[in-house]
Amino acid sequence: MEIHAYEKLWLALALVLIVGFIGTITYGAAGAGIDMIDDKGGTVDPATLDQHPKFGDPGIERTGENSYDVYVVARQFVFEPGTTQPLRVPAGSTVTFHVTAADVIHGFEVVGTNANTMAIPGQVSEFTVEFGEPGEYGLLCNEYCGSGHHVMEGQIVVME
Ligand code: CUA
Repeated sequence: MEIHAYEKLWLALALVLIVGFIGTITYGAAGAGIDMIDDKGGTVDPATLDQHPKFGDPGIERTGENSYDVYVVARQFVFEPGTTQPLRVPAGSTVTFHVTAADVIHGFEVVGTNANTMAIPGQVSEFTVEFGEPGEYGLLCNEYCGSGHHVMEGQIVVME
């Protein structure tokens, strides 16, 4: 049996698409210069968040040559840090985010990447992101959290 040349061509194109889709899911944010590495958690008392050694004054902390810890508190309707001032990280760094919420459930999404988690009171979402090239990313809350949900956003600046 002979396969028509056009049929072979479409068969090949279909295979490329399938591999491409799988690649997109597996390495979704590679194009944006961000790779997600792992995902794990912990707990924290939301009632005493303000006295917590890390979440009491959330921000960025250097942990190695190119590695950083970033502590983020989501609350109605801001990310601390991220909303009132951009969260700044150096290009080429590996950043482990620790995200929790002070009041209700929020979302924490780095727009255009697969860095995305729920921010739950009492729980710490932990995930590591590699920031490649300099650039700017939006942050947004993707869990309905009240009247200001639609304006709950922020910014990450990946610095040169
Ligand atoms: Cu916070 Cu929606």
